[in-house]
Amino acid sequence: MKPVIALTKGRLEKQFTEYFKSLGFDTTPLTEKGRKLRVETDDFQFIFAKGPDVTVYVEHGIADLGIVGGDILAEYQPDVYDLFPLPFGACRMAVATEKGKVWPDQKKTIASKYTGITKQFFKANGESVDIIKLEGSVELAPILGLADGIVDIVETGTTLKENGLVVDEEFMNFSARLIANRSHLKIKKDALMPFIEKLKSKKGV
Ligand code: PRP
Repeated sequence: MKPVIALTKGRLEKQFTEYFKSLGFDTTPLTEKGRKLRVETDDFQFIFAKGPDVTVYVEHGIADLGIVGGDILAEYQPDVYDLFPLPFGACRMAVATEKGKVWPDQKKTIASKYTGITKQFFKANGESVDIIKLEGSVELAPILGLADGIVDIVETGTTLKENGLVVDEEFMNFSARLIANRSHLKIKKDALMPFIEKLKSKKGV
């Protein structure tokens, strides 16, 4: 059985594919997968899922390894082995609001996909806020008056800029990370370690 790798769909998937290619692997099945959610290369089986679900597949042992953002690990705290950072997917967590907006004197309302991180951040600052959970496009919330601000990841800053928002404060840095199922790391050590070592050797490049 080929090792199973769960890969976060979207931006990380693209960055991982380039990285995987730079390690000398054939990426044709990945680049030509179309809408398929499962493909095989010569050496691995890949499954494609949203970040939080990548951690679920790894935690339950459906996938041996996973490629996921550090932001997802911080928010969901899955029971997986967090092996090491990968040299792509750099982003930071930020509080942002509309350009020129003055924060209200009373309790702020913050929209975010990251309700756990948001709660923790404001609590650490001694501030109580109302949090509204959204699943995406959170930049809409302050523009439409749903919230005073947002907590979200910023990578290039383009989404904030194009929607008239600005960073108020940045407070965490993340990158993509390699995660593993805890027991598979031991049981399938011989099958997984050469690939893990290969990824590790290119770490920071
Ligand atoms: C993420 C994040 C921001 C955007 C930041 O969203 O939630 O919206 O990327 O990237 P940038 O700084 O490079 O513009 P994603 O693309 O994952 O989509 P989503 O809004 O549907 O979650």
